[in-house]
Amino acid sequence: MKVGIVGAGMVGSSAAFAMVMRGVASEIVLIDRNEKLAVAQAQDILHGTPFASPTRIWAGGYEDLAGADVVVLSAGVSQEPGESRLHLLERNAKVFGAIIPSVLAHAPQALLLVTSNPVDVMTDIARRISGLPSERVIGSGTILDTARFRALLGEHVGVSPKSVHAYVLGEHGDSEVLWWSGAVVGNVGVQEMAAQMNRPIDTEARARIEDAVRRAAYRIIDGKGATWFGIGSGLTRIVQAIATDEKALLSISAETELYDGISGVTMSLPRIVGAGGAGASLVPKLDDDERKALLRSATILKEAADSVHI
Ligand code: 2OP
Repeated sequence: MKVGIVGAGMVGSSAAFAMVMRGVASEIVLIDRNEKLAVAQAQDILHGTPFASPTRIWAGGYEDLAGADVVVLSAGVSQEPGESRLHLLERNAKVFGAIIPSVLAHAPQALLLVTSNPVDVMTDIARRISGLPSERVIGSGTILDTARFRALLGEHVGVSPKSVHAYVLGEHGDSEVLWWSGAVVGNVGVQEMAAQMNRPIDTEARARIEDAVRRAAYRIIDGKGATWFGIGSGLTRIVQAIATDEKALLSISAETELYDGISGVTMSLPRIVGAGGAGASLVPKLDDDERKALLRSATILKEAADSVHI
């Protein structure tokens, strides 16, 4: 598996580091318009390889993407404190207009994995610019929000987050939907499990978890300027599923043909991820409030995507 990463800032380099530590790729090339930065990140990570899986990691130009199976697009600006992800749209759409043709020129066979924000709309833009089929242009979407949700539920209930199956749907952003009614541990609803463990998720606990998931990025940005470890791990999980043709159910962003009367909206649903990229998605059984919230989220994303003319 050869992975290209365009944008070697904190997100791109953390993804590269996590990929090396987990051994999901044999080659990783980092590209950045700041070449010095890309070289420094690649060298720093290379020095960790004797402690991890053998991975060839280096900094290069677009021509070095030749033969890449996956190209991660992590270039662009990130949020300043207080800014929402959707605020970045215009600036990052311009960045993608400049980089995607160069990626395609050298790696026309690669699957594009978008992570620049607002990730759902940027995934939609990447698909439109590249003209690639929708299963081959995917976004990290809510993989991170789902991880945050699972981590907090696991902590609350006192069970490994790996044993919690819970998803965040829709936008990776303010309108995201925590799918509480579908959250389970084993085959027991998470709320029932929490009650069994004498750690009930009452109204206050639910609101606290909900807020901690939805507002996580704002809090972290306030404390350290940006987020990178969580998303770097999430990108690695997606690349691992592609590399091993795992057919893992992951909440990632891709074009959704039709959702509740809305067509062609790029958003997150739990999708089967394997070598071909995004496969079929799970049709979530939502309660009324969740359904309304997901419809609202889809509408916000559709309007944002339609406002960008390619
Ligand atoms: C995050 O949720 C900022 O989208 C980034 O961590």
